[in-house]
Amino acid sequence: MPTTLTVNGTRATVDLPDDTPLLWALRDGLNLTGTKYGCGVAACGACTVLVDGVAQRSCQTALADVAGATVTTIEGLGTPAALHAVQAAWIDHQVAQCGYCQSGQIMQAASLLAENPNPSAQEIDDAMDGNLCRCGTYPRIRAAVQDAASRLKEV
Ligand code: FES
Ligand code: FES
Repeated sequence: MPTTLTVNGTRATVDLPDDTPLLWALRDGLNLTGTKYGCGVAACGACTVLVDGVAQRSCQTALADVAGATVTTIEGLGTPAALHAVQAAWIDHQVAQCGYCQSGQIMQAASLLAENPNPSAQEIDDAMDGNLCRCGTYPRIRAAVQDAASRLKEV
């Protein structure tokens, strides 16, 4: 049975089996390929999206479990003309190296700052701990999250 949810502000209907991981519903069903597949077992964070505003691993989220939910992917976090503070900080700090993990990192950071606008360095490290980066961009991620927190306070 088709599943209806809201993705990046638009109602979407996905006609895939109920147990399809949200990751594949986004990528294959809705052609939103910014969300990446890394491990498939909730161990790397590459597939992170926001479900009702909270970071969630889309590879281990069944489509049926997000029926009626609001999902935000990297494509819907900001726009080129109005970047989310995390995206703007990411660019200024030139965080990405190969880039593969980065949409998941950004979504995780956005979730952290929505919940805790003033995280300590330790809180940032704890929140980002499950998002792996083979390129080792962790120092720039930490700096960009701190910068994004400052930007959000100015809004
Ligand atoms: S692909 Fe989902 S956590 Fe790795
Ligand atoms: S930037 Fe290459 S895996 Fe993170």
